[in-house]
Amino acid sequence: MNEENPKIEDIVSLCKRRGFIYQGSEVYGGLSGTWDYGPLGVLLKRNIMNLWWQHFVEARDDMYAVDAAILMNQKVWQASGHVDTFVDPLCEDTVNHRRYRTDHMLKDNGINPEGMTMEQMDAAVVEHGVKSPDGNPLSQSRSFNMMFETVVGPVADDKSISYLRPETAQGIFTNFKNVVDSFYPNLPFGIAQQGKAFRNEIAPRDFIFRSREFEQMEIEYFVHPDDWQQSFDELLASIHQFLEKLGLSPENVHELDVPEEERAHYSKKTIDIEYDFPIGREELLGLAYRTDFDLSNIQRVSKKSMEYQIKGTNERFVPHVIEPSFGVERALMAVLTESYREDEQNGEKRIYLALPEYLAPMRMAVSPLLKNKPELVEKAREVYSALKKKHGNVMWDDNGNIGKRYRRQDEIGTPECVVIDFDTLEDDTVTVRDRDTTEQRRVAIKELIG
Ligand code: GAP
Repeated sequence: MNEENPKIEDIVSLCKRRGFIYQGSEVYGGLSGTWDYGPLGVLLKRNIMNLWWQHFVEARDDMYAVDAAILMNQKVWQASGHVDTFVDPLCEDTVNHRRYRTDHMLKDNGINPEGMTMEQMDAAVVEHGVKSPDGNPLSQSRSFNMMFETVVGPVADDKSISYLRPETAQGIFTNFKNVVDSFYPNLPFGIAQQGKAFRNEIAPRDFIFRSREFEQMEIEYFVHPDDWQQSFDELLASIHQFLEKLGLSPENVHELDVPEEERAHYSKKTIDIEYDFPIGREELLGLAYRTDFDLSNIQRVSKKSMEYQIKGTNERFVPHVIEPSFGVERALMAVLTESYREDEQNGEKRIYLALPEYLAPMRMAVSPLLKNKPELVEKAREVYSALKKKHGNVMWDDNGNIGKRYRRQDEIGTPECVVIDFDTLEDDTVTVRDRDTTEQRRVAIKELIG
């Protein structure tokens, strides 16, 4: 863990103060595990998702995209194993009946639960005398399915049960045949999807790190079974390139080759990419070799062939799959962690976000030096309109004195502030102030908007 990492409270406080992220349903006391994105959070999140899209979809010629429905036929989740096995171990404080994840209770007490069965976790609770956060004995664990169940249509019976999807992946697998029929791509090829996922986490915590509603960016990359390792390695290298584009320092990013007993039921090899978050080293994303687990299950349950025929040959088989799976919120939290900086300017503490220019919610801010001088305001409005036309994400800022404006823009990560002063009226130049160095330079308006 990087000693210089900010504290989680610093990030939460900045996010709320500056309009990035608010607690979901805050006005009614909140809804645990949900978060709302404010005006700047929406932009930062969208920039991260767009960067992913450019990197993994647009820049490649072997990717196809889908946007599947969130509600799916219940058979999807039966075939995928989620109905039976998408569970976490739940235990209860035997006095006040508050509920916890048993593995979290162990972890919080310095015991590593990785690879333990539920019975082994219960035994560890007893052996180490682990108590609830309120100091009471814990009950034995039971399996808790994390899917949100709902009813589709006006009749509530077994057949109308559906679930809010707990991963976007199944919307890709169920469209594999459609994409092959429409495009018949050569193997290997991928199908990508971005969108919401929902998990009824027993204990959502650590800000947006573990939420009940979040967003995923996933690829199912279909390969010949003999070639899986090559594609796995290629995608792993591409993931590292993407993380660099996010601005994450390689020393904060770690690969964990997940041992067999800890891998998801469908995976033959998984590398978790972990990041040094303020809450510790935790999973940022996963890269899994899912074999033909999903397509074969779909074939078995739907009775429709998921086989792929190599063009010009009689070779037919169910393709195997490599899956890079990203959580948008975790990527966003890593970006905030990495870019959060504190320094001192003119004897005063300053907070700023050193975001890469292409991720910053605002590319520039434009201000008249004094807002009560109509000639300055008029000129500043002209410059603002031209820059907004050029960049789109440009903010007009005439609130408070110039020092306050700089501080506000630093905190939201705006790379440059443009100030129109009396000299501008004479020589058509403006002051451009750099966020990271705070250095100011004089630039001709023509050059700036050119
Ligand atoms: N399709 C595979 C899959 O969903 P996962 O490891 O369960 O795998 C993938 O989830 C990624 O989704 C995680 O690495 C993480 O970034 C994100 N994620 C999972 N659960 C999350 C939660 N409760 N809150 C925020 N992000 C979550």
